[in-house]
Amino acid sequence: MAIDLRNKIVVITGASGGIGREAALFFAKEGASVVFAARRGELLAELLDELKDTPGRHMSCPTDISKEEDVKTLVGETLKKYGRVDILVNNAAVSYVGRVADMNLERAKSALDINLFGTIKVTRCILPCMIKQRSGHIITVSSIIGRRGVPYRSIYCASKFGIEGFMESLRSETEKHNIAVSIIRPPSVKTDFSKKIKHDSKVTHHALDNLDPRTVARAIIDMAKRPRRELNMGLLAKGFLFLNGIFPLLFDKIIKER
Ligand SMILES: NC(=O)c1ccc[n+]([C@@H]2O[C@H](COP(=O)([O-])OP(=O)(O)OC[C@H]3O[C@@H](n4cnc5c(N)ncnc54)[C@H](OP(=O)(O)O)[C@@H]3O)[C@@H](O)[C@H]2O)c1
Repeated sequence: MAIDLRNKIVVITGASGGIGREAALFFAKEGASVVFAARRGELLAELLDELKDTPGRHMSCPTDISKEEDVKTLVGETLKKYGRVDILVNNAAVSYVGRVADMNLERAKSALDINLFGTIKVTRCILPCMIKQRSGHIITVSSIIGRRGVPYRSIYCASKFGIEGFMESLRSETEKHNIAVSIIRPPSVKTDFSKKIKHDSKVTHHALDNLDPRTVARAIIDMAKRPRRELNMGLLAKGFLFLNGIFPLLFDKIIKER
């Protein structure tokens, strides 16, 4: 039976735009109370205003997930207001494009500080409350290329592979506490994500599928209602992972830089 999301307390990182914003809208329509986190507070305030007629008691909390103090404030304010967290959606991330040979290490570190360590910080800070309440669901938005490295995306892939490994380990530790851990892997999605990319090399990276962010947001809601270990999204992307699983050497040849 599907879980009723009414009155659930949901924390979403990266809620100021794209997939996170759409997921916040859907959770609010389902009757959940949503905590929006991202760096651009003005966009979170607009979202809060847009949701004023929905039943939940929402809250915005401007947060840079790479900063420990911000994360502590996010979790502290959430627990002060609601006393619990039922669902955490780890969605915030930045992209990174460039050849390894051209890599700007500072930029690479900054992407890892957000995508990998930032997500770890938020999860680690919320976990004790889920353990105490003996329930919870952690949903992480990874990527199809969190399972297969591709040219020019080394640091982004490293961050997504890293967070997938972290979440798999976490799952094995939290089952006994009744905490579910899920991973969603979208292919390319029509958001501002790739427009914000600062390129370290003049390269073109190709989109696989091109989903509407609402499709991914709906998949997040569905995952919250019916928790599963993982979901690969998009037909082409599923084919991509399938092919890679059976013929990895052929796949290396297809995607290599020419
Ligand atoms: N778009 C795609 O093609 C695609 C494909 C596969 C997977 N994904 C994954 O989907 C998720 C959402 O991406 P999207 O496409 O919706 O991109 P987006 O529109 O660029 O949204 C990214 C969100 O992350 C937030 N964010 C970035 N850095 C942050 C930080 N340091 N602290 C807190 N929030 C931060 C941004 O808000 P602020 O700038 O306000 O902080 C924004 O709300 C990401 O995990 C991404 O890796 C995207």
